Amino acid sequence: MTFPVHRPRRLRRTEALRGLVRETRLATNGLVYPMFACPGNKVRTEVSSMPGVFQQSPDQIVEECREVAGVGVPAVILFGLPEKKDETGTEAASPTGAVQRSIEAIRKAKLDLLVITDVCLCEYTSHGHCGVIEDGEVLNDPSIALLADAALSHARAGADIVAPSDMMDGRVAAIRRKLDENKFSDVAILSYAAKYCSAFYGPFREAAQSTPQFGDRRSYQMDPANAREALREVALDLEEGADIIMVKPALPYLDVIARVRERFDVPVAAYNVSAEFSMVKAAARNGWIDEQRIVLEIMTSIQRAGASIILTYHAKDVARWLKSC
Ligand code: PBG
Repeated sequence: MTFPVHRPRRLRRTEALRGLVRETRLATNGLVYPMFACPGNKVRTEVSSMPGVFQQSPDQIVEECREVAGVGVPAVILFGLPEKKDETGTEAASPTGAVQRSIEAIRKAKLDLLVITDVCLCEYTSHGHCGVIEDGEVLNDPSIALLADAALSHARAGADIVAPSDMMDGRVAAIRRKLDENKFSDVAILSYAAKYCSAFYGPFREAAQSTPQFGDRRSYQMDPANAREALREVALDLEEGADIIMVKPALPYLDVIARVRERFDVPVAAYNVSAEFSMVKAAARNGWIDEQRIVLEIMTSIQRAGASIILTYHAKDVARWLKSC
């Protein structure tokens, strides 16, 4: 039986009806706000391609974290900039690095906030690659040892979750082993399992000063054309001990998020990355789009595809908007 018995418009008549039957309900408790920690004191420099996003010293990070917690966003993910870059990214594991000091400061302030840390070498290496280099090649196995050291230093400083984003093979297992050996078996791993080699990271590389000085990341990040390979990457990371897996970027890879969600019964995160943010900001500044509606629609799409956790530079705005709707 069909029309006139069936009239789907019946349930769209009022906001109360639409709310009642809504399949995807946005909430602040799945949001993660990314932040950039740099050395020093009282430093707060805006990233030119990312309005409202700053490189900040640990004292300033804490202040913004107070605001983040205040609007109800439950978690931040910290990226770090070093004092000095070198061939092997030594500062990534420094106990006095900007990330480690920021975590300690957040803990000291007793903020009600989960602290996630990005684990990668690209911000810390002079060549800007996510691993160590020999003869122009990014070496896998020596890199994962360094990544495990960085993750351990984050755990020691007080991180709740470490999030490796380098795309080396075997890094989740190496990090899990290192954390467990050092009595950090409660620190969780959010793995950037399906991370694509994407042009959508452009503005981030200004923020994190992590542009590769030669070549690109195609020999370790995934080919944007591959979706089945993402399922294999996720399966491997879960076998190695990942607790949460992530697809990145988000919007151009909604199909990948959906397939991962279908196949695996673990929490799925998505990273709404820097250029996804900057494009919206630029268009909004030109008066070409309604920023709030666009952002909430994007968040809904990412969640509808299957991600229950969304890392986004819009997190504070989304939390405020949801409070007022
Ligand atoms: C580091 C890293 C990158 C992003 C998160 N972690 C950049 C890259 O791989 O070049 C991108 C985040 C964003 O664009 O917002 N490996």
